[in-house]
Amino acid sequence: MRLCRRPSAEPLYISSLTLGIEASHNHCLSLMRMVDLIRDKREGRGLSAAEIEWIVRAYMSGEAADYQLSAWLMAVYFRGLDAGETRALTHAMLHSGRVLGWSGARPVADKHSTGGVGDKTSLILAPLAACCGVRVPMISGRGLGHTGGTLDKLESIPGFRVRLELREFEQVLERHGCAMIGQTEEIAPADRRLYALRDVTATVESRPLITASILSKKLAEGLDALVLDVKTGDGAFMTALEPARELARMMQDIGGEMGLAIEALITDMDQPLGRAVGNALEVEECLEVLRGSGPEDLRELTLELTARMVRLARRARGQSCELAAAREECRGYLDGGAALERFCAMAETQGGQTRALREAGRLPQARHEAVIRAPRAGYIQAAAARGLGLAAMHLGAGRARVEDSIDAAAGLRMHVRRGDPVSAGDALCILYYNDASRLENARTLAQNAFTIGETPAAPRSLIQEILPHHPAA
Ligand code: URA
Repeated sequence: MRLCRRPSAEPLYISSLTLGIEASHNHCLSLMRMVDLIRDKREGRGLSAAEIEWIVRAYMSGEAADYQLSAWLMAVYFRGLDAGETRALTHAMLHSGRVLGWSGARPVADKHSTGGVGDKTSLILAPLAACCGVRVPMISGRGLGHTGGTLDKLESIPGFRVRLELREFEQVLERHGCAMIGQTEEIAPADRRLYALRDVTATVESRPLITASILSKKLAEGLDALVLDVKTGDGAFMTALEPARELARMMQDIGGEMGLAIEALITDMDQPLGRAVGNALEVEECLEVLRGSGPEDLRELTLELTARMVRLARRARGQSCELAAAREECRGYLDGGAALERFCAMAETQGGQTRALREAGRLPQARHEAVIRAPRAGYIQAAAARGLGLAAMHLGAGRARVEDSIDAAAGLRMHVRRGDPVSAGDALCILYYNDASRLENARTLAQNAFTIGETPAAPRSLIQEILPHHPAA
């Protein structure tokens, strides 16, 4: 036994240390109490790796309660975590479950977005990268608040199963080169629980917490490479460019130290991506892009994310790959229909109904629609992503609370983009719904999301900045 002294308390005794991490400088592991660690963070004191590991383990074992973690998360929200603390949190969350490993020559990669409205690139990117010979074991989340989630979109395909046993997940991946499932109890379960808690305690918008959340589940996928789509603008968690940049750098640094090559694109989320917002509407739009049409911004962003992911993954395995060649390859698979075939085959193996995937108009359709019209002539100055995401959520496309159910057919379709000229009475967007009691709130939110001005809006590029991967020296 070793005697240790807390800064402001009586001597305590330490019995053993676990996990091969350094001893706590503040608290003895055997007598650690959540309340002390909440107080430490509240007062801005740094926590040791051992203390952070203890918090995650105590939460997962039930020793620390939801309300205590909520208080700790709020203290982190205000006081932050330094790089060492963020690394320790990522490590603890990663090892709360299994870490997957893959054999074979094909590189393994994924893309993660920090969350947005109409943000549906994953459904196109995964089969496209698979066509290029990159394995994509995609573990995605549900939509919460105004942002959408890949799982809800996939579940709008009748029959599609997002809950697969790991064995089946591996089989789908082996067969098609990509598989798309939800978080399981086996993969980074601490993130699943902590994210749900953050969502209802207003602690999502914290750089270290976002970093640990994203990296823990992506590292658990056993990736060689990760492309991050860090959203910025009205509908993003990081509304301004500088915090988005800092978040991207933090993830690159910590991911890099933990062996993951990361390239980050900071992309616009001031208005929704593409035209469709809402689950079945977004799947339909992805199928349009996979069939060679669809909105230009969605197509171009997806191609860029995929090409960069393919290049990074190949390079991480020591293969040479130029960006221009990867772009060409991706365009070829998209335009030639190979990515569409790959998506349909994967979705069918995961239970998706063939007709819903292969025949237009077979996905869930809403019974009613309402048109939002321009009150006057001018130019679209803003089509605010947050307001439009909330409007879709009110119609049933998203959840206000984790346990809320989703209406797969609900949502909206944009008829204008930022900068477009409009005449009075032109359609700005169409709302799709089944439950008429939801319409009025959604209509107000959608109307208020549009700003019409006298002059054209200043252009905003879709890809605002690229932070390339820098291999460690
Ligand atoms: N996406 C995640 O997976 N985690 C976060 O904390 C925020 C966005």
